[in-house]
Amino acid sequence: QFKVYQQYEKNIIPVSYEELEAKAKEKLENKPYYYVAASAGAEITAKQNNKAFEKWQIVPRMLCDTSSRDLSIELFGKKLAYPVLLAPVGVQSIVHPEGELATARAAAAMDVPFIASTASTYSLEKIAGEMGQAPHWYQLYWSKDREIAASMVKRAEAAGYDAIVITLDTPMMAWREKDIENAYLPFLDAQGIGNYLEDPVFCSRLDKSPQEDLQAAIMLWARVFGNPTLTWEDLEFIKAQTSLPILLKGILHPEDARLAVEHGVDGIIVSNHGGRQVDGAISAIDALPDIVDAVNGEIPVLMDSGIRRGSDIIKALALGAKAVLVGRPYMYGLALAGQDGVKQVLRNLIADFDLTLALSGKRSVTELNRDLLKRV
Ligand code: FNR
Repeated sequence: QFKVYQQYEKNIIPVSYEELEAKAKEKLENKPYYYVAASAGAEITAKQNNKAFEKWQIVPRMLCDTSSRDLSIELFGKKLAYPVLLAPVGVQSIVHPEGELATARAAAAMDVPFIASTASTYSLEKIAGEMGQAPHWYQLYWSKDREIAASMVKRAEAAGYDAIVITLDTPMMAWREKDIENAYLPFLDAQGIGNYLEDPVFCSRLDKSPQEDLQAAIMLWARVFGNPTLTWEDLEFIKAQTSLPILLKGILHPEDARLAVEHGVDGIIVSNHGGRQVDGAISAIDALPDIVDAVNGEIPVLMDSGIRRGSDIIKALALGAKAVLVGRPYMYGLALAGQDGVKQVLRNLIADFDLTLALSGKRSVTELNRDLLKRV
């Protein structure tokens, strides 16, 4: 434990989430800062994602011999060192030139899975090239042109990704007031659509190569990015493209969780996209228990949106999440110190989680359940 305190002298970024965000605000230009930090509408859901954790209180147990702990979990037949993953976040080069490559290196160094976004600056193959043997998943934005979606899934499988995460809550970008005020959408230049520009099917839809006519490539991106026509029946198409496990991200309603199970998907991620899509939507932590009950252990339930500290992870796991994803915290680490910044954010979050687990009287994540919590 004292090692943790000694290491803190070597901190290159703030330890607290609030200071991390404040420092990132100082460093970044307004447009990219607000693209990361801001959310949809009046940001009620974004605030609730954090506030709602306070209603769930930990009731620690004593005299449990927590001298040694096991933080690992098993997911889709593989052991993960911690119940933590890096959430898919697009266009990371807007906060740091090495973008997703730096994030991937940090994730690999910490043995934490990284979920690479369809909207990455770097191609999914280049990102996979930084991950070595560490687990990595691919997040799909299901294009209106389904051959592009199929191509991306096949590229991901060929590049060694371990799972496909289909994000359902973003068939179109929500009403994001800061970005509208700033007239800023980072996908309207080459770095914003980098992963698409290396997709053979995407490029085959263009008359000229993106190098010759970038504007046409951006217009094509805008036409095909999201697909609001999708229904549950369309899942069969993606399932037929891959043998990898498929997770659905953005589930908030218990009936949708049941539909996911019935349509044979392998996992779900309870998420409101960090409050960036439906403002006024239920907070992810409050949506979690009913979804866990509806799924009834048939497939793993993960969650994100609002995880900031170790106690948040304890609460999510106690309510039945198998693992959690973090988004903005590591983006601020990336903005401030690249790969080392992401590593430090992860190291701190995991150390905090480990200590809080022990002090709550638990030795492993398998010992966490609702008995540890009281809702106030
Ligand atoms: C995201 N998120 C996201 N999700 C996704 O499936 N594909 C993507 O490309 C992105 N892009 C993205 C960009 C930025 C700047 C943010 C902040 C978020 C959502 C992300 O995966 C995750 O659901 C939230 O970030 C979790 O909430 P917290 O941890 O940021 O509160």
